[in-house]
Amino acid sequence: MEIEIARLGGDVEKGIESSGAYLIWEDVTVVLPKFGGGKGPTKRLLNGLSGYAEPGRIMAIMGPSGSGKSTLLDTLAGRLSANLVMTGNILLNGKKRRLDHGFVAYVTQEDILMGTLTVRETIQYSAQLRLPSNMSKDEVNEIVNNVIIEMGLEDCAHNLIGNWHLRGISGGEKKRLSIALEIITQPQLLFLDEPTSGLDSASAYFVVQVLKNIACGGRTIICSIHQPSSEVFALFDDLFLLSSGETIYFGEAKLAVEFFGDSGFACPTRRNPADHFLRCINSDFDDVTATLIGSRRINDMKESSSSLIYLPTSECRVRLIQNYKYSSHKLRTKARVRQLANIKDIVFKESGGSQASWLTQLCTLIKRSLKNMSRDFGYYWLRIIVYIILSISVGTVFYDVGTGHNAVIARGACGGFISGFMTFMSIGGFPSFIEEMKIFEKERKSGHYGVGVFILSNFISSFPFLVFMSMSSAAITYSLVKFHPGFFHFLYAAIVLLSSITVVESCMMVVACFVPNFTMGLVVGAGILGIMMASAGFFRLMPDLPKVFWRYPISYVNYMAWGLQGAYKNDLIGLEFDPVMPGEQMKKMKGEEIISSVLGFSWFGLGTSMLEVSSLKSLASESKMFAFWVELVTPGLPSVGYLSYVICELLYRAGVLPCAHPKDSGCRFPLS
Ligand SMILES: Nc1ncnc2c1ncn2[C@@H]1O[C@H](COP(=O)(O)OP(=O)(O)OP(=O)(O)O)[C@@H](O)[C@H]1O
Ligand SMILES: [Mg+2]
Repeated sequence: MEIEIARLGGDVEKGIESSGAYLIWEDVTVVLPKFGGGKGPTKRLLNGLSGYAEPGRIMAIMGPSGSGKSTLLDTLAGRLSANLVMTGNILLNGKKRRLDHGFVAYVTQEDILMGTLTVRETIQYSAQLRLPSNMSKDEVNEIVNNVIIEMGLEDCAHNLIGNWHLRGISGGEKKRLSIALEIITQPQLLFLDEPTSGLDSASAYFVVQVLKNIACGGRTIICSIHQPSSEVFALFDDLFLLSSGETIYFGEAKLAVEFFGDSGFACPTRRNPADHFLRCINSDFDDVTATLIGSRRINDMKESSSSLIYLPTSECRVRLIQNYKYSSHKLRTKARVRQLANIKDIVFKESGGSQASWLTQLCTLIKRSLKNMSRDFGYYWLRIIVYIILSISVGTVFYDVGTGHNAVIARGACGGFISGFMTFMSIGGFPSFIEEMKIFEKERKSGHYGVGVFILSNFISSFPFLVFMSMSSAAITYSLVKFHPGFFHFLYAAIVLLSSITVVESCMMVVACFVPNFTMGLVVGAGILGIMMASAGFFRLMPDLPKVFWRYPISYVNYMAWGLQGAYKNDLIGLEFDPVMPGEQMKKMKGEEIISSVLGFSWFGLGTSMLEVSSLKSLASESKMFAFWVELVTPGLPSVGYLSYVICELLYRAGVLPCAHPKDSGCRFPLS
């Protein structure tokens, strides 16, 4: 055997370029420990696979659904899920390396794109996020133009990608755009998971032809593919055929027909070889055959695949696996893997990740996010319209509330509605958050930018919308209801609303991290806000809240409790209300007394301390009062952003998020 390998090694002692990506994998096994709710046996997803991929060639991983194509691709690209365990060796140019986190390019099966951008804008922003910051604008534009031409996207370069309410580009164009985004940085190693799924044969051919052209430029391309047409199959150089995680065939694609013929499963003339291979190893065909035999339509089948018709696929599979084990293809693979494991000094240009500075990434993300938010009607515009309509409604219901005795309750109810319901409505942005989080997950996995830049850019770009939303709502309600007069009182009310909406936005971002599902996320978000509302001090006065849990600590961490008290104090302190019986000689009720005796806010309780002391001392000085309020409110804004950042980062490190990268999650990756 060794002699045979050595002889074949002589055969393969050919063509090793001085640069490029030579990837080999040896005896790679992936298992799912304790499959079936933690009690079952270990499930083997890939079983001792070996192979190699070389520059200038395109390799197809083929097999029936569930055979392990995506698992193999993820394993090679260093993106294996944290719940799987891998053993074996993966070497790139003779060395173990981390291939995750942007080291190589990976095109996922699902096209995750921002629907509100045009094709050109998408490529442009992606280029700015990743290309070196010192590149001139012209150089970046040239790269963008070249990529658009290379992927044949000139005709749709100015079309929107499209989302649920915008008709956009076709599926094939989306796929080509996804590939375009990965080739901007000219990666030497490119992985693609089913780049042709959902495309018609012409679009699929075009996509694979483009990949072939890219490979011809000295790149190494590995893609999984379901059932290629014969034209598409002819474009592949190498083939890895899998069935239930076992190697059926690995080697040159054009020699596969010969291998199947030698094993007794010759491909009938005029049949697509890819169809024939899958027909031999896909056990679902057993059911098809049984049905056809039952319905006596077997004659049609006999003509097309006589050798297979009475042989169960499980037997075909076993025979093919055994034949491959002892075939010259396997020996040749072994020899080449050995040879490539020992190569040294081959230049590998790292292409993934980002070479742009932190500031460039931040500015690019802000611009992109602003464009997305302003074009997506459901992100902020719809909410702004609803806020304005609601403000007019509240303002007219509580119109000119005055300072009569009943006005105390009316002001309380109106403040409660604004602090409670109008901030609650901000959960309406959740669907758009989910979309944005998907893009963030994908780009973070590819190393385009970090969590900090994302949180900051999102905060900055959403800020103008939030300011507009809260200012317009506060202006309408304040002028119609006629709350405490004075510009600084109005400004304070607007800032309280802004802070509260910002906190709700951040909370929903955090929820989107934990529960990246539209319906479940909305339910969880509404539940959290419901808890906040119940303990805010409106439905049950603050002193009456049960001390354990609700008063301490919930009311202290409840943004709505702070916002509500701020709004009440801003409105009531300094006003006087009519006594219960008009005309009585009773003195008027002061706002300060209502705050402490009716609403039950103690001087040193929640939201009091410095603020109340200061406002009592200098009620006349509104500007000073404003300064104190601002002091109280503003720390909420950065702290919420920071909180979201910390939670996201912790989730990544803990591997809770689906996009946890192996470096942080501690998942077993042999190249680290
Ligand atoms: N993280 C995981 N946890 C548990 N099981 C997994 C995981 N990843 C993959 N599997 C299982 O491994 C098997 C192979 O899955 P994989 O996605 O690689 O198949 P595939 O060949 O890509 O299928 P398809 O053609 O349908 O995409 C499946 O049975 C799948 O359920
Ligand atoms: Mg798959």
